[in-house]
Amino acid sequence: MSDYMWFEGVPFPDIEFQKEILEDVCNEFLVKEEDLILLAYPKSGTNWLAEIVCLIQTKGDPRRIQSMPNWDRVPWLESKKGYPVLIHKEEPRLMKSHLPIHLFSKSLFSSKAKVIYLIRNPRDVLVSGYFFWGKANFVKNPESLETYFEWFLKGNVPYGSWFEHIRGWLSMREWDNFMVLYYEEMKKDTKGTIKKICEFLEKKLGPDELDLVLKYSSFQVMKENNMSNFSLIEKDLFPNGIDLMRKGTTGDWKNHFTVAQAEAFNKVFQDKMAGFPPGMFPWE
Ligand code: A3P
Repeated sequence: MSDYMWFEGVPFPDIEFQKEILEDVCNEFLVKEEDLILLAYPKSGTNWLAEIVCLIQTKGDPRRIQSMPNWDRVPWLESKKGYPVLIHKEEPRLMKSHLPIHLFSKSLFSSKAKVIYLIRNPRDVLVSGYFFWGKANFVKNPESLETYFEWFLKGNVPYGSWFEHIRGWLSMREWDNFMVLYYEEMKKDTKGTIKKICEFLEKKLGPDELDLVLKYSSFQVMKENNMSNFSLIEKDLFPNGIDLMRKGTTGDWKNHFTVAQAEAFNKVFQDKMAGFPPGMFPWE
């Protein structure tokens, strides 16, 4: 277990990140017109979205997702492994990032690159993060959900405050090239969401191709695909096994929060997310 590396007030697991790279991403990295950037606070379904986009690009052909680990298909911009790959890659680049808006490359704001921002109910993000980070030996491990709950509300978890992340990136929601998706809606109508993504990316898929995207990005298929389920990650980082594909459901927080925690969370949510129009968050 180790502590965080703090960068501009945001905690990062120090094994995956380097200050110099974070500085470069923020100040030097050039976003290009043809780039497609998948953004999400960690544990929001980032890898699911990445799988869907990869499959849309191959029109449902699964050979790519079955032969290449997801971190090679969709490099993680701010990570030690992803950054060097991306700066040498030709357009069009596909990448993912969990960075809050104030740490993201400034060049994004004057580019025409497309961005998909995925949001998930923070209660489920909290529970997912508790189980995921709890198995990692490179971040501070909470001894209980109660402890993690406190850390999460304070933003003392990898990538900092969920609330600030969402507030920051949602300020871009009126931009033409910025699409907001919700995990809950992806679960409720996965096919509809895939069609929406295709429209945003200006990709035309036939009905059979859409069905293939749906099939190969399903929870069960991803869970069994070693190129997608993180089972190829170095074993010493997760000595007790890794559980990226844990449950894949909405509302799991109800199985874990006490009544008092649910009430406390509601209060914080209402306070921190005040000012957004009704319907902004489909689970509320
Ligand atoms: P749970 O821990 O609640 O199961 P990320 O990719 O941002 O780390 O998010 C991980 C979460 O997305 C996990 O949530 C995981 O199960 C869920 N997920 C991954 N692939 C999914 C899929 N195909 N369908 C539904 N949920 C999926």
